[in-house]
Amino acid sequence: MWTWLVVWSGLGGAVLAFCPNGCKCNDQVPSAGCVGVGLTVLPILLNPRLRHLNMAHNLISSISQSLEFFKQLVELDLSHNLLTSLGTRNLNEQHQLQELRLAYNNLTHLEPGALRGLHSLNILDLSHNGLKDLPAGVLDDAPRLGVLLLAHNSLHQLPQHTFRSLPSLHTLDLCNNYFRVVPTAALDYLYNIKSLLLCHNRLTHLDSHAFTTRELISLSLEANKIDLVASDAFQHLQKLKMLTLNDNMLGTVPVIPRSLDSLVLDKNNLTTITPETLQGVERLSTLDISYCPHLSRLHPDTFHNCLNLQRLTISHNPLLRHLPHGLLRSLPRLNRLDLSGNGLKTVSKASLPMASLQYLDLRDNLLVCNCSLRWLASVLAGVNTSLVSPDVQCSAPPKLKGLFLSRLRGSGLVCGWQGQVVAGSVVVVCCVMLLATLTLLLCRYQRRQKREKLGRGWPPGPLAPWPPDHHSAPTRHIMADEYLYHTCSSITKIPVTEV
Ligand SMILES: *[C@@H]1O[C@H](CO)[C@@H](O)[C@H](O)[C@H]1NC(C)=O
Ligand SMILES: *[C@@H]1O[C@H](CO)[C@@H](O)[C@H](O)[C@H]1NC(C)=O
Ligand SMILES: *[C@@H]1O[C@H](CO)[C@@H](O)[C@H](O)[C@H]1NC(C)=O
Ligand SMILES: *[C@@H]1O[C@H](CO)[C@@H](O)[C@H](O)[C@H]1NC(C)=O
Repeated sequence: MWTWLVVWSGLGGAVLAFCPNGCKCNDQVPSAGCVGVGLTVLPILLNPRLRHLNMAHNLISSISQSLEFFKQLVELDLSHNLLTSLGTRNLNEQHQLQELRLAYNNLTHLEPGALRGLHSLNILDLSHNGLKDLPAGVLDDAPRLGVLLLAHNSLHQLPQHTFRSLPSLHTLDLCNNYFRVVPTAALDYLYNIKSLLLCHNRLTHLDSHAFTTRELISLSLEANKIDLVASDAFQHLQKLKMLTLNDNMLGTVPVIPRSLDSLVLDKNNLTTITPETLQGVERLSTLDISYCPHLSRLHPDTFHNCLNLQRLTISHNPLLRHLPHGLLRSLPRLNRLDLSGNGLKTVSKASLPMASLQYLDLRDNLLVCNCSLRWLASVLAGVNTSLVSPDVQCSAPPKLKGLFLSRLRGSGLVCGWQGQVVAGSVVVVCCVMLLATLTLLLCRYQRRQKREKLGRGWPPGPLAPWPPDHHSAPTRHIMADEYLYHTCSSITKIPVTEV
């Protein structure tokens, strides 16, 4: 090694450093990049003062005895190669290395001492390898580590002391591994971790105090098989702002930290959301509840306490046919509302926080286009331009099916009951008229009957002879009781016969 350095120094800056075919070298930085040129070993004749070296996409299977010449490396990329092992002490001279990329190799195991010497390492990318374990102590050699990427490996557990000497670690990616339980004991050492990713594992439940790292801000748990979350699972996470729990099997919304700013609950087995679940999350500004095939009911007070909610997505829940009245009224800051792909038949303007809303998506529902949606037709037609809303199609009534609601503004939207009212009024009017006619006829008939009973000449017309002729006109006899009723009538001069 020293010989090479001497030779290289002897050449001074007079000639450019050796740069293999296909590589790009910059002696100012200095840096070298040999990306995808089919190299099988790391070329040792590059400028020994290299600070950045990119060897990605080659066929390098070993780094044994090749990096010792590059003591000043700050950044080394060996991703997409054929490394099966890092060996031991092969990075011993890289005291200045800050970023080491080893993704997409075939590393299955890290020997103790594999990272020896990496005093300054800040970013270590080991994702997309075949790591089955991470022996306790192997990471002790990189005490400045801030970002550790271990996604897409075969890890299923971590010894308790794995992270014991990583006080600066702030980001740990363990997604796409085989964890069945949260490695709580190992994580416990990460006093300063801000972002933890455990997505795409095989977690089924989150026990009490599953997470004890108090500085955590972002926790990603999507795409596991979680169906049970202890009520105090997140209890220590008092700074947590982002939580993703989508793609699990949750039947209820778990108890979530009050500090939360964003919560994703898509693709779960939720059937209903009750008001107590989102109690106390005054800071929540973004909430996603989509693609829940069993979700059919939202309690009217579900969002009662979510006073800071700004973006709400409740979409593609086919059993959700109804928005309870007042569900969204109490959200003074809601500006983006996505209700697309549900089974909603109608949406009343009064149920939406119209004052703050800037975007409203109601596409792909089962909207019945009647007079109740006139307000929406106006919005869609851009009458009120402050609210942006993509056009929606009607599902019913049959004659409006498939038509865009914005085009039906005006007379297109009638209500079933309006037609009924018209028909009903006609029927009522007819009945009234019929009744009146009948009554009239009946009255006439009765009067005629009465006249007939009293005889032709009664009451006497103006030309009738008076006093009436007793021979021609029959004497009328009135019964006593009948007489009573007629005492005040004009019938006076008639002889009364007591029977
Ligand atoms: C990785 O290594 C295993 C055995 O260690 C081998 O079977 C496999 O083919 C290797 N994969 C690649 C992409 O080289
Ligand atoms: C999802 O919820 C439904 C209704 O509550 C239940 O019948 C079903 O078993 C649940 N599925 C899973 C995988 O938990
Ligand atoms: C437009 O929307 C605002 C609130 O967003 C509302 O106050 C106003 O009445 C609406 N105007 C019309 C014409 O609908
Ligand atoms: C319009 O249709 C919806 C959905 O079927 C219904 O709930 C609503 O009552 C209808 N509006 C009127 C005024 O009939």
